Amino acid sequence: MKKTDSRRALQTRIIHPEGELAPGFESFAAPVTRASTVVFPDLATVRSLDWRNDKQWRYGLHATPTSTLLMQRLAAIEGGEHALLQPSGLSSISNVNFGLLKAGDDMLIPDNVYSPNREHGDWLAEDFGVSVRYYDPLIGARIADLIRPETKLIWLEAPGSVTMEVPDVAAITAAARARNVVTAIDNTYSAGLAFRPFEHGVDISVQALTKYQSGGSDVLMGATITRDRALYLKLKQARMRMGIGVSSDDCALVLRGLPSMKARFEAHDRSAMALAEWLKTRDEIAVILHPAFADCPGHASFKRDFTGAGGLFSVVFHERYSAAQVDGFVEALELFSLGWSWGGAHSLAMPYDVGSMRTVASWPHRGTLVRFYIGLEDEADLRADIEQALATLA
Ligand SMILES: Cc1ncc(COP(=O)(O)O)c(C=O)c1O
Repeated sequence: MKKTDSRRALQTRIIHPEGELAPGFESFAAPVTRASTVVFPDLATVRSLDWRNDKQWRYGLHATPTSTLLMQRLAAIEGGEHALLQPSGLSSISNVNFGLLKAGDDMLIPDNVYSPNREHGDWLAEDFGVSVRYYDPLIGARIADLIRPETKLIWLEAPGSVTMEVPDVAAITAAARARNVVTAIDNTYSAGLAFRPFEHGVDISVQALTKYQSGGSDVLMGATITRDRALYLKLKQARMRMGIGVSSDDCALVLRGLPSMKARFEAHDRSAMALAEWLKTRDEIAVILHPAFADCPGHASFKRDFTGAGGLFSVVFHERYSAAQVDGFVEALELFSLGWSWGGAHSLAMPYDVGSMRTVASWPHRGTLVRFYIGLEDEADLRADIEQALATLA
């Protein structure tokens, strides 16, 4: 910091103030270090800049002390080495695709994937010359039959966050590794707490931090996490070339959510489990799609690989109820809001027309699916609310 010269005009002295703000000040909160311009001490430093070097500060778009702190904490939670931040979970997905694929490459996506991931893949196929194929999420080791010489990337989602099939991650990643194909998982469901992707052979984990990490339903952000430095650099370069960045203010909001994330996740998990168990006893519900339930597709993989489930599960209503009646049920709920995303304190419910979302793995159920996200409200109140809304079906 240059010294202020008292002979300079007030306007100049306001722009070039003297001294550090609060030397020796410490608190538990992450300091918010906002920056577009990063100031260099000398030209030798400028000329030594190398985008690969994570220890150098270059420009606010790429990293600040606040965003770096968040990246380090996310990598630690997930058991990874390197993290990058993007301004939404979906932009983390697109960062992976644009970082790893080019025209002529082939990519495999599970049929139950988060639908904007599917839309992104379809766009790459339509306009960018990438071949995109969908696979049955329960395919397991048989994915080997789908891998071609041009296959460069296989997406996984565990479980599919609407229909809840849990893939055999280790079987899919083993087949991919045998053919040098990179795997990327959307690991948002587990928040990196209940499923450790790198221990199951996954190369890249994507988190929508918008959800449990933030916990406040007020921030959009995503992360790509990996143990592999070469992959990390590919994603970092693509991120830089696309001009992707996040604000330190938003990073500070996500950092604020991390210490309570595990306790929140477990509280969501307990209430969701109890409500799913209770819904299983209800005559209106034909199927409970909760990975911890023995009849949920892929339950064996869940039991083997996961340590918890969080607040998300789906139910399929008995086919005697029309889609319009189920819409009526959802709208009759008072404590469950209608809205996308999850991970905050507020419960959500949303009906889905799953049949129309599939192209490979046919959907076996005839009734309407409703996905519940169980928030942090009192569980008995949520149960009473669902009960009064079910009564409207009679
Ligand atoms: C499974 C899953 N992955 C990724 C995302 C994308 O997150 P964002 O809303 O931050 O783009 C979502 C959002 O709903 C999601 O449900």
